[in-house]
Amino acid sequence: MEWKRKDLLSLYDLTAEEIVFLLDTAEEFKKVSERKVKKVPALRGKTVVNFFVEPSTRTRVSFELAEQRLSADIVNMQAAVSSLRKGETLLDTVRNIEALQVDLVVMRHSAPGAQAFIAKHLSCGVVNAGDGAHSHPTQALLDIFTIREKKGCVKGLNVAIVGDILHSRVARSNIWGLLKLGANVTLAGPATLVPREFEEIGVRVCHNLREAIADADVVNLLRIQHERQAAGFFPSTGEYAKFFGINRETLKWMKPDALIMHPGPINRDVELTSEVADGPNSVILEQVTNGLAVRMAVLFLVAGCVKK
Ligand code: CP
Repeated sequence: MEWKRKDLLSLYDLTAEEIVFLLDTAEEFKKVSERKVKKVPALRGKTVVNFFVEPSTRTRVSFELAEQRLSADIVNMQAAVSSLRKGETLLDTVRNIEALQVDLVVMRHSAPGAQAFIAKHLSCGVVNAGDGAHSHPTQALLDIFTIREKKGCVKGLNVAIVGDILHSRVARSNIWGLLKLGANVTLAGPATLVPREFEEIGVRVCHNLREAIADADVVNLLRIQHERQAAGFFPSTGEYAKFFGINRETLKWMKPDALIMHPGPINRDVELTSEVADGPNSVILEQVTNGLAVRMAVLFLVAGCVKK
């Protein structure tokens, strides 16, 4: 197929065919990072601005590395020392960046829809590196890439997503992507963080961990996002860990070959214990490795659709 989008904003927008095309392209780019010389000239002459208005380790570093491996010119813009601090609007900021003949803007922002908003006004490409609790498409792509790599397929798999679904852009993007590719999705966590309304989009909602993970091929544990929780959604992290944490005992409730995933950063001893995070079922660091290949694929494909 031919890629036709200059922006990657959300997996909700994509067809199953587009998602598979992205994953197949990432598979090719993964080989580049396994070579002695980990660089290709695919984005030579292109300029990418990384603009992270919210903190990030994995996404920011892997986008930057992906850009370097594709030979792009890179500018890392620091929101804290930008003229946003003087009251310049987001739109004026990105219009000024575009006036410097930039090809792509990779942005993380706390406002849901911020990237979709700027993409409407820019002719350069926009890649969403996370917008509030709405969407984190490259995280879901790397999660699905890892599932496909480990299990051989996605269709028909049972995927349990456990944790703070309410505040999670990772959950939303995974749900959209996994459903499009034919997986069965179960959401689990306290009723305050996993409301029944999610059932309307075709997933199972479960408030009992044992039931949620018993038939799971993949268990994706999401971080408790204290920074997005104005109210207390559960009595304490200890209580959360007791009922929804994966530890040596609750791991036994799962299939022996089930994958343990986590997008990071991990709250150790809350979502999972160290022996699970670092144990044989865990593919958490492989997710990070695959993020590089997925981001190379995304940058390569969207850059090809930016008109100059
Ligand atoms: N998974 C993820 O988005 O991690 P960072 O916030 O560190 O980028």
